[in-house]
Amino acid sequence: MTAPLSIEINEQALQAEIDHLASISECPGPAVTRILFSEVDQQGRDYVKGLCAAAGLELRHDPVGNIFGRWQGSDDSLKPIGSGSHIDAIPNAGRYDGVVGVLGFIEAVRALQRAGFQPRRTMELIIFTAEEPTRFGLGCLGSRMLAGSLSSAQVGALRDKEGKSLDELRLGAGIDGDLGTVRLLPGAYEAFVELHIEQGPLLEMEDLPIGIVEKIAGPSTLHAVITGTGGHAGAVLMPVRHDALLAAAELALAVEKAALESGSPDTVATTGVFTIEPGAVNSIPCSATLEIDLRDTNLAARGRTQEHIEMAAGQIAHKRGVQIKTSLFNADPPAIADAKLVETVEQVCQDLAIPSKRMISRAYHDSLFMAQVCPTTMIFIPCLRGYSHRPDEYSSPEQIKTGVKVLASVLAKLAG
Ligand code: GLV
Ligand code: MN
Ligand code: MN
Repeated sequence: MTAPLSIEINEQALQAEIDHLASISECPGPAVTRILFSEVDQQGRDYVKGLCAAAGLELRHDPVGNIFGRWQGSDDSLKPIGSGSHIDAIPNAGRYDGVVGVLGFIEAVRALQRAGFQPRRTMELIIFTAEEPTRFGLGCLGSRMLAGSLSSAQVGALRDKEGKSLDELRLGAGIDGDLGTVRLLPGAYEAFVELHIEQGPLLEMEDLPIGIVEKIAGPSTLHAVITGTGGHAGAVLMPVRHDALLAAAELALAVEKAALESGSPDTVATTGVFTIEPGAVNSIPCSATLEIDLRDTNLAARGRTQEHIEMAAGQIAHKRGVQIKTSLFNADPPAIADAKLVETVEQVCQDLAIPSKRMISRAYHDSLFMAQVCPTTMIFIPCLRGYSHRPDEYSSPEQIKTGVKVLASVLAKLAG
């Protein structure tokens, strides 16, 4: 019998790295903004690559900019174990979303190295390109392409708000190669395990240090373009107006109503983008664009909610004399975690005497797409009041340490 590994996580070093990465931001702290292929995103990537290199991970990247950091195992005939997350951050975000899974993996590797562990299977960190939809309106760009869930026509059509294409941006960031080669073969990894903050309040409310994800809700994005009639804010009398903003406002309220009345507790719908033209105080808005995020673990309930929103759009257009065009930008199925892998994580928690519970993830993650490639699950740690996507997102060093200890132990079990 081999002696149990003594895995000691250095939470101070890890916290210092989390804080340093947070200082690489487009906005003043404590908020963090790192948008795909911005200068700051490049600096963040370079910083994390430096940490990987210092931990002895062999680095490469693919044509969409997913970064891979490999700890070579002794047996090349075995498929690698994957782990990782993202380091891009939405505008005005916190410092832990995604970052805990990336920097946590590096600390897990260092802790295993300190414990004298030698992997038989290779362990590979993946830092996914653009889990956040900020640049192209589409989440999980890197993992979506690894799973082959985006056709080359869809990739070619991606444009940011300034009309820049993915090609233009990635080439500007020094990333080239054939995008058609990003896709992984099914089963490319033996397993994939992502460490992440919960982004919800349940673990904290139940005073539990670890959640093990069994299912990830399926997200979709609906676009609505409202075309009304502009005109002079002083001269056009109220009864003859076709104000695009007011129609869009009614539609945003209809989105809320449709989600509240879906009959499924897991339906959530958010109008997160609302823009108007021409945006002048003395001009009636002539057009409005809404981007609506719609999610559920239950696809039928999500579909019904979308239908209700589309019906409401028709009624509002008729009532206000405007045109409303809706289009479905993406619609992803939920992901089911691998039952055996969930059991493995659960067993590791039991062995470490760390309480855990199984849960669903209402936020999406790169694991949503990695689950299409290989057996996948996620390890959640609590975060303060469930806050996320805001500057006061917080998990304590102790909570992060526990998550990294579980991750390191799971990796050791899978790769040993
Ligand atoms: C991921 O950031 C999400 O929006 O769930
Ligand atoms: Mn996020
Ligand atoms: Mn995330």
